[in-house]
Amino acid sequence: MDAFNIKPKVYFGTNALGHLSQLKHRKALIVADPFMVKSLTVNIITEQLDKAGIEYKIFSEVVPDPPVEVIIKGVQIEVEFNPDVIVALGGGSSIDSAKGIRYFSRCVNNELKKNTEQPLFIAIPTTSGTGSEVTNFCIITDKSKGIKYSLIDDNLTPDEAILDTKLVKSVPKAITADTGIDVLTHAIEAYVSTNASDYSDALAEKAIKLVFKYLPKAYENGNDEEARLKMHNASCIAGMAFTNASLGLNHGMAHALGGKFHIPHGRANALLLPYVIEYNADLKNLNGNVDTSSAAYRYTEISKFLGLPASNQFEGVRSLIAAVKILMNKLDIPKCISDPKISRSDVEAELKEISEIAIKDRCTKTNPRVPTVSDVENLYRNILPKE
Ligand SMILES: NC(=O)c1ccc[n+]([C@@H]2O[C@H](COP(=O)([O-])OP(=O)(O)OC[C@H]3O[C@@H](n4cnc5c(N)ncnc54)[C@H](O)[C@@H]3O)[C@@H](O)[C@H]2O)c1
Ligand SMILES: [Fe+2]
Repeated sequence: MDAFNIKPKVYFGTNALGHLSQLKHRKALIVADPFMVKSLTVNIITEQLDKAGIEYKIFSEVVPDPPVEVIIKGVQIEVEFNPDVIVALGGGSSIDSAKGIRYFSRCVNNELKKNTEQPLFIAIPTTSGTGSEVTNFCIITDKSKGIKYSLIDDNLTPDEAILDTKLVKSVPKAITADTGIDVLTHAIEAYVSTNASDYSDALAEKAIKLVFKYLPKAYENGNDEEARLKMHNASCIAGMAFTNASLGLNHGMAHALGGKFHIPHGRANALLLPYVIEYNADLKNLNGNVDTSSAAYRYTEISKFLGLPASNQFEGVRSLIAAVKILMNKLDIPKCISDPKISRSDVEAELKEISEIAIKDRCTKTNPRVPTVSDVENLYRNILPKE
């Protein structure tokens, strides 16, 4: 039996945030990162809560790739404050932190035999990337082991999402690029996932088209209203696709790399994407057979709906890889790991371990090709820092 989940209600368009002023709740816990407080973005939310007469507390200790410690601290605050609504404000790191906090607070409250109702969970993304506002995924980092864990559970999904493009205008160029490629990777991986369905395909296809058309515009001019709006929608739509179809090796590898070396999630995905497509399609061994269940066939379908040359699978896969590389060029994304703090020998030393971790990542399970550790090591070798 298959199922397709369409749980969170999504508020969007003019004055979507006004929904907060209509709430009939008592106490809100806002989960955010420090930038949201420093930039006064959080005030846009608290103004609405004030209108609704809702008391609030702000927990703003979220950091990128949120570690277990942040979740524990947040749980303590949640249990003490006992909110009936949790508002996550920020990128994937804030939304995932709020997911973890709500999830584990419930366990603590059950332990304490407190008869508290599960608070309403509202996610308000400020990046157009993870789609976490509509997914049942929560990515938490164990810093001591250098591993990012993908928790997947329908109880993690927010109840409501609010999309407002005024919140994403301040996203700097490099983060616009990285998070935008995260959207593309979600949609492409959902499309070729072994769990893909007609429902997830429809969403993934729309998200892919939107990214190719609007991401370069959002990158060039962050004040381009239309491009920001379309990328915010694309991010949410891709989230709806992958929360159902799941992801693949690209994400498994990005998590393993990010857990050890703290490369921004979208950047890690971007570096790997052309190589993972080539690997999944088994480009070197394509022999003209039309196997409609193969990844090569699915990538060729993507090329076709993007209007790229795709008279056969070989051409279709190559066109998609070329289009992805052209997009990355427009976004000034380098071709290999380029953080000066990460040396080639550092990554080489961890290669085997991160490859084993990538294989075990839950996202890798739905990859269209089953990778070996040495396949994954070879894929990572493509993006090693220069000597
Ligand atoms: N749960 C999911 O479904 C899912 C999917 C993909 C990735 N993730 C996870 O999400 C995290 C990445 O999230 P992200 O890419 O959104 O980045 P992020 O939340 O880590 O934020 C990155 C940086 O952008 C800043 N920022 C956020 N909004 C901004 C704004 N409007 N203006 C200026 N700066 C802003 C933040 O302060 C931070 O410094 C990773 O941990 C990743 O593994 C989760
Ligand atoms: Fe992602």
